Amino acid sequence: LREHEEFTKVKNIATIELGRYEIETWYFSPFPPEYNDSSKLYFCEFCLNFMKRKEQLQRHMRKCDLKHPPGDEIYRSGTLSMFEVDGKKNKVYAQNLCYLAKLFLDHKTLYYDVDLFLFYILCECDDRGCHMVGYFSKEKHSEESYNLACILTLPPYQRKGYGKFLIAFSYELSKKEGKVGTPERPLSDLGLLSYRGYWTRVLLDILKKHKGNISIKELSDMTAIKAEDILTTLQSLELIQYRKGQHVICADPKVLDRHLKAAGRGGPEVDVGKLIWTPYK
Ligand code: ACO
Ligand code: ZN
Repeated sequence: LREHEEFTKVKNIATIELGRYEIETWYFSPFPPEYNDSSKLYFCEFCLNFMKRKEQLQRHMRKCDLKHPPGDEIYRSGTLSMFEVDGKKNKVYAQNLCYLAKLFLDHKTLYYDVDLFLFYILCECDDRGCHMVGYFSKEKHSEESYNLACILTLPPYQRKGYGKFLIAFSYELSKKEGKVGTPERPLSDLGLLSYRGYWTRVLLDILKKHKGNISIKELSDMTAIKAEDILTTLQSLELIQYRKGQHVICADPKVLDRHLKAAGRGGPEVDVGKLIWTPYK
């Protein structure tokens, strides 16, 4: 991913320590000026406070009593948990998370107000606590029907299906709200790849089941995926024809099977029965 770096501001922090990982950063992040003379920062993996020296972190760990993100645990399945953090109620945590996330997000600005967002933190839990593997943020009220603002899987946990899990989770929340949703634009290359993969799999499964006899509107109602995203996905799969001024799904079984074989599988699934959540009011 080195090639991304030349497009961004000069990187300040080169590495971070987080839990049992030392992680190389990808991009610039606007840490407060007093942190800019250090090339490595030490994060408490639970409250996400960051420090310039290892000894400070060690001292912090002796007195920090958090063992999981703040906020409510809204999902647990096996060793995976999701926590919902309100940026207004846990402002420092949310700001720390944004500083951390910006190290891996290129085109997102950080100068938004964390008060307006909810943060969904995915953790792998063991006897030492719940360790963050990734997260997504979501506006409490979105005019543009965005159901996700920023998404990140921390590098040591990437390519295991957690990105897809987070995306699937964001659509499950939209279904509970009875709304369609779409991710905030622009998407990064990896973001687009992950969304394309998710949309493709979800839509192909339904088309296969219904033998293609279904409309874009019905697909949207079933999945909470915005109609435009369904259209672009099906167009890229060449499953759409334009007839008499209308887009029609043409799901030739052979084409469907070819795409289904190519679609990536595996990774954790969202078990909706284990989601305990009511929409933000
Ligand atoms: N190279 C090629 N393909 C990749 C790579 C890679 N480095 N990483 C993931 N993929 C593919 C996977 O093969 C998979 O494809 P498939 O659906 O065909 O199987 C798909 O992307 C998703 O893979 P996951 O393992 O589910 O996703 P992951 O946990 O790696 O997270 C994410 C994806 C969140 C985009 C991660 O790469 C990341 O955090 N990147 C940095 C931050 C970022 O760019 N976020 C998106 C910004 S846009 C927005 O926030 C709205
Ligand atoms: Zn701490």
